[in-house]
Amino acid sequence: MAGSAPPASLIAPLWPDCHAAALAIVRPAHLPLWQAAAPYLDTRCNDRHTLYCYAFAENLLYAHPDADPAIVLPALLLHDVGWSSVPADKQLLSFGPHMRYPQLRRRHEVEGARIAAEILIAHATPAAVVAAITTIIDGHDTRAEPFSLHDALVKDADKLWRYTPFGVETLRGWFGYSLTEQFALLARWLETRFFTETAVLLARTLFTSLQLSYPP
Ligand SMILES: [Fe+2]
Repeated sequence: MAGSAPPASLIAPLWPDCHAAALAIVRPAHLPLWQAAAPYLDTRCNDRHTLYCYAFAENLLYAHPDADPAIVLPALLLHDVGWSSVPADKQLLSFGPHMRYPQLRRRHEVEGARIAAEILIAHATPAAVVAAITTIIDGHDTRAEPFSLHDALVKDADKLWRYTPFGVETLRGWFGYSLTEQFALLARWLETRFFTETAVLLARTLFTSLQLSYPP
């Protein structure tokens, strides 16, 4: 199944300029938040990861019209700004299969909520919206179960990038997975990592596309 890598053009068709990509992906109303967040996302591929999350969230919101885009989308733009407060040499040891510093994983959530509040307040966001967004960010990785539909959509959007060539190549670089190992993980995560049926269907579709893209 998962043998060789796809051509580079498949991995990065519209990059490497994240700001140019953001103009195509981020709603105009949210571009100031993106521009404020970007300096905090310049680590761990978080800028590009964030835009993938945002794009997938738009799809989840399409299927969940009862959710508020004014909460879900800014939450995704800002959810990982806290990694900027974790030393770069310890980031890959703060989550994933080689985690040695779970306290730093937690720090990225707490600091992320603090930085996000500063950015949102600076952009005249209503207090109730700031509270809703920062409550989601503070716990977006460590909270086992979502406390609301908004939280569930953020959690799900944060996982879907793994089912793209960018996600496969990034996680392989971080953790040294073989493609076979990673495809087995992706298959298992379909059953365990998502909270909405919409996200499962999206992940299944993306996974099928991945399997077709990585020739045996
Ligand atoms: Fe994330």
